[in-house]
Amino acid sequence: MRGPAYHSVVKPFVDRLQVENFFCVKKVDVALTRLHAFIGPNDSGKSTLLRSLVFMGSRTAGSAYPQAPTWASLPDAMVTAHMGDERWLQVSDQVGNRSSAGGHLGLAQLVRLEPDALRQPCRLIPHNQRISFENERGVGLAGVLDAMLSRHPEQFLALRARFTELFTGIERVEIQNTSDHKKVIGVTLDGGRQVGPEGMSEGMLYWLAFKALQYATKPGILLIEEPENGLHPARIREVAALLRELSAETQVLVATHSPLVINELQPEEVTIITRTAEDGTIATPMTMTKNFEQRRQIYALGELWLSYADGVLESELVGGDDAKDTKAAG
Ligand SMILES: Nc1ncnc2c1ncn2[C@@H]1O[C@H](COP(=O)(O)OP(=O)(O)O)[C@@H](O)[C@H]1O
Ligand SMILES: [Mg+2]
Repeated sequence: MRGPAYHSVVKPFVDRLQVENFFCVKKVDVALTRLHAFIGPNDSGKSTLLRSLVFMGSRTAGSAYPQAPTWASLPDAMVTAHMGDERWLQVSDQVGNRSSAGGHLGLAQLVRLEPDALRQPCRLIPHNQRISFENERGVGLAGVLDAMLSRHPEQFLALRARFTELFTGIERVEIQNTSDHKKVIGVTLDGGRQVGPEGMSEGMLYWLAFKALQYATKPGILLIEEPENGLHPARIREVAALLRELSAETQVLVATHSPLVINELQPEEVTIITRTAEDGTIATPMTMTKNFEQRRQIYALGELWLSYADGVLESELVGGDDAKDTKAAG
């Protein structure tokens, strides 16, 4: 809860999310933490749960999709976000309730980075504007880094030094000009040859983007799709540490398939998402998975998940509670 013990200023976060009749979710009630991961099979509803928070407070249920569904197209949908004693409620199609979802949750921001978007030329961010990516795919990386260079030069230099340590063969990372007055990210290789974003690996681009997120203006909630994408296992750990740092400033929810991300989290920070035809999306806290206490003695969290995950219904995990040892039927 929001006890004063942790920080001098404790920022509120969504500690419970209830979603009903929202795409594949029939009814889900999930406890969240400042840094929290949804893990589970493909197509189980992880992204849908993240998006329920983006949709709250937006006029259409749309910003995350090309063909924006509207609330009106989601009859009976309901999303409730609890923050300590307060709650924000969005009921489908009821304009009157929408404003209450504004404020904090109106600032939820989804991030699902794509290498080609990170490579795209972009405009500079004027001095009086907040630092942010142009869209959820990461267009605007060079602009964010340029703003970081001008507003926090010492941090930019630290980032640049770390980048050179991590990625061998690189003399330095830099912001380059394009012929049409835009900016792109690029690197100078050892030996002095300059290459643009097309010469940078996905690992480099993703690492920079996660680092840049620290300097971007923080949304109320940061929702991150598969932060492990394109990253070497050794880099995933570093990104998980970055997410932990970010979570000191804003709530961070991730959807992931990576045991390496999970290894960096506490049990209460992980929820397993599965889906059945009958019940729709189901959320099971990691701590409530079968035989959790025993298994926890043997496995790191990510290994625990990996050892029992079947990629379909995760029956060996969610099939029963701690006390029981029954196999899930179906
Ligand atoms: N905008 C949408 N329109 C229709 N169906 C959707 C939409 N969003 C999610 N769904 C349903 O949710 C299911 C799970 O999707 P998703 O949340 O992306 O899974 P995951 O992220 O766990 O892989 C999809 O197969 C689909 O049935
Ligand atoms: Mg997904």
